[in-house]
Amino acid sequence: MFSFLSKDQQTGEVAERQLDESNIPAHVAIIMDGNGRWAQQRHLPRIAGHKQGMNTVKTVAKAASQLGVKVLTLYAFSTENWKRPTAEVNYLMKLPVDFFSTFVPDLVKNNIRVKVMGYTDKLPAATQQAVQDAITATQDCTGMVLNFALNYGGRAEIVTAMQQLAQRVQAGDLAPEAIDEALISQHLMTGDLGDLQDPDLLIRTSGEERLSNFMLWQVAYSEFVFMADHWPDFDQTTLERAIYAYQQRHRRFGGLTNK
Ligand code: IPE
Ligand code: IPE
Ligand code: MG
Repeated sequence: MFSFLSKDQQTGEVAERQLDESNIPAHVAIIMDGNGRWAQQRHLPRIAGHKQGMNTVKTVAKAASQLGVKVLTLYAFSTENWKRPTAEVNYLMKLPVDFFSTFVPDLVKNNIRVKVMGYTDKLPAATQQAVQDAITATQDCTGMVLNFALNYGGRAEIVTAMQQLAQRVQAGDLAPEAIDEALISQHLMTGDLGDLQDPDLLIRTSGEERLSNFMLWQVAYSEFVFMADHWPDFDQTTLERAIYAYQQRHRRFGGLTNK
């Protein structure tokens, strides 16, 4: 039984909550937002927030795996984040190198397999190498998939998939009428996740209530939970609060019954 202490956002009242172990969302996706604001509140440079945010990733990956989450997708860098100042972009590009060089043994110990989705060929060579090494080091892990969205954009992903399908049509090995939802899903960057491609629960931290080009196709029926916490403050309890909120929802998928 997973139980945690929850503090009511309005009244401040603390209550013990129990999670339903039979209803843990299989795929949890998180838009990790608020690193900059977390740092600014402490009169620190924005990159201090990114550094602390990297530690949060470690905590949350282990917590999610222990709760029984099957896929944890984390939005780490969007195709639009290149618009930021060069120094910040450079720092963000170095983070995966630090992250994996210190965390791969823990990932292996927790049976967590690393996957990356995004235009990784546009990342600096050292970042690509770190990512590739982590994928290789964890390739035999059979537990949770830790899926990093790195230089990822939902619209770009759909464009790439459409180009691939158009090429197959042009080559004569695909009939336009054979293009269906399943085939499009398979051509997206989550295609290799099989039944687990679509997030059950999407969390965004830091109070913003928008998708910022994240998994546009896959979130068609995801439950959205927006939280005020900045990402560096996120921890196991925050994750449990989000899952608890998810468990109070009634998913109908257009029908009339729950699930
Ligand atoms: C999320 O935090 C990390 C990335 C987008 C890479 P931000 O850097 O967006 O933090 P805020 O939103 O400016 O506070
Ligand atoms: C979304 O956050 C991207 C990531 C968390 C990696 P942003 O901070 O970039 O989104 P906007 O600009 O506020 O929409
Ligand atoms: Mg932000």
